[in-house]
Amino acid sequence: MSSTARTNARRPLLSNFVCKTVMAVTGLIFSAFVLVHMFGNLKVFLGAGHFNDYAQWLREAFEPVLPYEGLLWVLRLALLASLAGHVTCAALLWRRARCERGLRSGDGRHEPRLRKSHGELSTPAGRPFLRPRHDRAWPARGPRALGRSH
Ligand code: HEM
Repeated sequence: MSSTARTNARRPLLSNFVCKTVMAVTGLIFSAFVLVHMFGNLKVFLGAGHFNDYAQWLREAFEPVLPYEGLLWVLRLALLASLAGHVTCAALLWRRARCERGLRSGDGRHEPRLRKSHGELSTPAGRPFLRPRHDRAWPARGPRALGRSH
């Protein structure tokens, strides 16, 4: 693909940088949740009273600024939004990576620019890292070049 064609391709709303940042931040949110959740659950070893107090605190925290169970709902919504962002960005990045490798032509916004010779296979572990530089200049030979759209 010529550099002009690449310049003219429509820029995606969520760039790869944004997607990867979303992946990293939401991943950190999940990790933090699991840690905090584990410490909360460890209260079970302090006895039923402590555990019940903790459960009650979770529901009444920051009242009256937050309504009853307000904190729990904030956490639930944050986790749900994180899950949506994490999955969406993972899917976008996965699809773009496939397009870049020329495995699928995609929606036209991400023109394939890498080609391995026909039938050549790479392992999933090697794909992101073991991409030889000369591959970037490899002439397009995939389904598009052969006149097939997919
Ligand atoms: C040994 C492991 C675990 C135990 C004993 C445990 C126990 C509990 C308990 C007792 C609650 C209710 C808290 C309350 O409302 O008072 C809860 C809620 C929750 N747990 Fe766990 N949990 C465990 C692991 C996990 C893991 C690994 C995740 C996810 C990564 C998770 C996600 C959640 C979520 C999202 C809620 C909130 C549900 C809601 O009320 O909306 N838990 N867990």
